[in-house]
Amino acid sequence: MHAHTAAAATRLPPPVNLARARPVVRSAAHRVEPPPSRFALDVLEGLAQRQRSIPCTWLYDHRGSQLFEQITEVPEYYPTRTEIGWLRRAAPDIAAAAGSGAVVFELGSGSSRKTPLVLGALDRPAGYVPIDISERFLGESVRPLAARFPGLPIHPVVADFNELQALPLPPGVRGGRRVIFFPGGTIGNLDPEDAARLLERLGRLAGLGAMLVVGIDHTRDPAALVAAYDDRAGITAAFNKNLLARINRELDGDFDLDAYTHRARFDAAEPRVEMYLVATRAQRVHVLDWAYDIAAGESIHTENAYKPSLFQFLALAHRSGWAQRRLWMGETPGYALHLLENVLVL
Ligand code: AVJ
Repeated sequence: MHAHTAAAATRLPPPVNLARARPVVRSAAHRVEPPPSRFALDVLEGLAQRQRSIPCTWLYDHRGSQLFEQITEVPEYYPTRTEIGWLRRAAPDIAAAAGSGAVVFELGSGSSRKTPLVLGALDRPAGYVPIDISERFLGESVRPLAARFPGLPIHPVVADFNELQALPLPPGVRGGRRVIFFPGGTIGNLDPEDAARLLERLGRLAGLGAMLVVGIDHTRDPAALVAAYDDRAGITAAFNKNLLARINRELDGDFDLDAYTHRARFDAAEPRVEMYLVATRAQRVHVLDWAYDIAAGESIHTENAYKPSLFQFLALAHRSGWAQRRLWMGETPGYALHLLENVLVL
């Protein structure tokens, strides 16, 4: 590992700190956790912008991850159901492409609810490495998986997948082909340039011949999109507002949650769904030692979900070194599952 320069130090995650590693399930968890100050800096900086904006990574604490799981059950949120359907059909092809003894890395593994569809189809998988930003949610999710696949080396990694410097193998595993499982349309959180950089980095870390199983939402229908991100039961609103509750909990904030409403809009030019928290009245908010005057009607941008066309996504994947192998999608552009192979390490 080369030394981090002082200038780069604020942007890079700390090195894996084995001294702080605690066992999760049967193996020690690497910690590539952003320091707490990263959350503080992102919030303080984000609230000071003209369009106030906080990176969506911070939505996914333990409570946020639980609320996201509830979103996947609401009738308006089609991606999860659709993807599970594609995975059932795709599993034999994924297994054939992966070959025997593959190692599966899952980015933003969350509940790992879809993982058995892949692991169960593979021929003698050599290991499973779930990567998630919520240590507690990761620990809870991996337990049932370990029970279901006894003997499979599972190596949970607590990390922001945007900051990955390695794809660590479970201890003792030499590893066959790398299979990166990136479901849920999570890559849609990233703007196209960041998504391209991530795919390039994944190619470098996983190597030539690695497979990528990635879910992308190509839906273009604005009404369906807005409904999916503003469900009638108000689960998405609660998920979004949990960010303010988290700031109150962890950064000594005093947001009044009742003074904000959830808003989802589709920007067809990007194209992306944007989520906001809109202030319903003027207020002075404190976070740590800072004060912000937020006017009635002002908003805080909290998440983007890009909805690229098939062409946009394939062009991006291709210039990042990944070639399309298979695609599962309905007749109208909608939620799709892609199987790609790394053919060029950039
Ligand atoms: C977890 C990023 C895939 O963009 O569809 C769902 C997040 N936010 N509803 C998505 C989300 C509000 C979700 N991802």
